[in-house]
Amino acid sequence: MASQTDKRVLVFDTTLRDGEQSPGASLNLTEKLEVARALELLGVDVIEAGFPITSTDDFEAVRAISREVRKPAVCGLARCVAKDIDRAADALGDAKRPRIHVFLATSKIHREFKLRKARSEIVRLAIEGTKHACAAVKDVEFTPEDAARTEPDFLAEVVEAVIAAGATTVNIPDTVGWSTPDRFRGLIEYLFEHVPNIGKAVIAVHCHNDLGMAVANTLAALQAGARQIEVTVNGIGERAGNAALEEVVMALATRPDVFGGLKTGIHTELLHRTSHLVSRVTGMVVARNKAIVGENAFAHESGIHADGILKERTTYEIMDPKSVGLAKSKLVLGKHSGRHQFRQRLTELGFRLTDAEVDGLFFGSFKTLADRKKEVFDEDLVALVESEVTQTPETWKLCGFQVATGTGGMPTATVELERYDTKERIRDAATGDGPVDAIFRTLERLTGIKLKLEDYQIRSVTSGTEAQGEARLEARCGDLVVSARGVSTDILEASAKAYLGAINRVLAKKAMKSKVKGPKPKV
Ligand code: KIV
Ligand code: ZN
Repeated sequence: MASQTDKRVLVFDTTLRDGEQSPGASLNLTEKLEVARALELLGVDVIEAGFPITSTDDFEAVRAISREVRKPAVCGLARCVAKDIDRAADALGDAKRPRIHVFLATSKIHREFKLRKARSEIVRLAIEGTKHACAAVKDVEFTPEDAARTEPDFLAEVVEAVIAAGATTVNIPDTVGWSTPDRFRGLIEYLFEHVPNIGKAVIAVHCHNDLGMAVANTLAALQAGARQIEVTVNGIGERAGNAALEEVVMALATRPDVFGGLKTGIHTELLHRTSHLVSRVTGMVVARNKAIVGENAFAHESGIHADGILKERTTYEIMDPKSVGLAKSKLVLGKHSGRHQFRQRLTELGFRLTDAEVDGLFFGSFKTLADRKKEVFDEDLVALVESEVTQTPETWKLCGFQVATGTGGMPTATVELERYDTKERIRDAATGDGPVDAIFRTLERLTGIKLKLEDYQIRSVTSGTEAQGEARLEARCGDLVVSARGVSTDILEASAKAYLGAINRVLAKKAMKSKVKGPKPKV
């Protein structure tokens, strides 16, 4: 039997029971089996597979999981009544290690309003239910529901009675997420001091997250001697959810100095994979900033942080990303990123650039892009470098444009250009069939070059709402055929850049033609 001095903490996973009670998360049998297999691989000690009396689906799920899972104990929940307990026992019939989990509310508010029963009646029913479950299986867990709001002396009386009746685990839940770490720790300490037979059972805790303290309360209870944590993957569960498995487990693994070296049997490198699976099958998206498994949990954007990480990971990371199943930390490029991080990413992408190129040309363009986009992806960088590298010497540079469009009116574009050599600025406006056409017509008026579009395509080069759009076109000017591309978060700007790029090419070719004698240069 676990005691306060044991270092091993049992992990009771209730993703498939309390987690599945999350509003909006309901899993079919195949999905439940997939999660149960993943939990077994993850190394949990107990899988609470469902509440068999509540529906045929729950019954079948507990039965199927009992047949499939071999290592962890498989548990079925039951109210403290014979018909629930019998149904749970039936569902667990094929389990290698069956556990029945019986619960009965003990707090004054539940006794008076929900159950309308006196304390003595609650104790009697708790004993009766525990004995009934013990007659069916060896492993019986009893939960005094709403324990955190139960009078401590009465709670101690119930705990003592159910242990005497045969419960091998007693779970102390904070059913409504009302407790705080110091109070909850105090309650568990109180039970260890006032329940004479407490050493005969494992003391478990089950904390809800209504005040965002489920993980802190769970950890505080472990410091007081609890040795089973009832948790869910991604912290899903009734209302604000339960204590998140990955957070409690990694807190123990990361701070043995604080938690006295308590250990779980969890293979932490499977945490990410399991979290993804649960998120996929429940449809409950994991917040980007969620501890351990959120997309940003090992991502760094700030230049100072990323620079620190590149020099020594532990400057800004307290856990190794590999320990939770990630290949490496993610250095996110955005407006806070520095030169070092930018250069490192380009090198990883295979670009060999000189210091002058990085400092002069690319870093400035990157900063301009990062100001517009929240996150600069690898595809953005490739597009950026390619567009800089493949540029023809420009005659005209796009300074800015405006387009007025809408139903009924004639789309009109105003464009301003600057000559590269003289810095002369010119501006004009023109109308067109649509906003893109209006821009193209204005560029033609300004530069005096008329193009005939042979091909024009727009595509997105990165994903998301601020994705970069790429405009590619092929155009003819007399016997010259040129192609050009433009990239921007705004497709009108991408198109303007591409068209102006084509005009610049025509101007460059014409200039070259007038200098070069002999055969016509190839375009
Ligand atoms: O929150 C709770 O009290 C429960 C019990 C049934 C264990 O989920
Ligand atoms: Zn619960």
